[in-house]
Amino acid sequence: MATSTTNTTTITQVRYTTPKRRVFTLMTSLAMSIVIAPMGIGNAYAAGSVKEGSAKARACQVCHGKGGKSTKEAYPILAGQHAAYLRKQLQAFRAGTRKDPIMNGMAIELSDQDIEDLAAFFSSVE
Ligand code: HEC
Repeated sequence: MATSTTNTTTITQVRYTTPKRRVFTLMTSLAMSIVIAPMGIGNAYAAGSVKEGSAKARACQVCHGKGGKSTKEAYPILAGQHAAYLRKQLQAFRAGTRKDPIMNGMAIELSDQDIEDLAAFFSSVE
């Protein structure tokens, strides 16, 4: 589900600290972006797809219920929630600015595209 390409790039940037290597790293990142972009992963991502999101949402079902229609009080209802809100929460969980032991673990695995797709899907459920 998740693509860790962006993370790999970031780690490379942190590891090399000498100026010469920094230039090298920058060029590597650039090269990677050029290679990765046409594959539809990494930094380049398209608008959310309900279909893709539906498949990816299976990982959320055990807690949030089928289609995000949670029946358990501990788990928020995601069905019909606004896409912008879902996106913002998933980004916050991923960044660790919104803290929840379960959701931080779930969101760290999500790419930008995963978040777009999941937000599109859950917001589409009536
Ligand atoms: C193991 C259970 C579990 C799984 C699996 C899980 N979640 Fe959650 N999720 C939670 C809990 C618990 C909360 C409430 C966190 C809190 O209280 O802040 C939550 C909160 C959220 C919220 C915030 C809702 C709101 O109204 O603010 C979103 C969005 C969300 N989850 C999306 C997802 C998505 C997308 C997936 C699948 C990729 C997923 N969750 C998988 C347990 C889970």
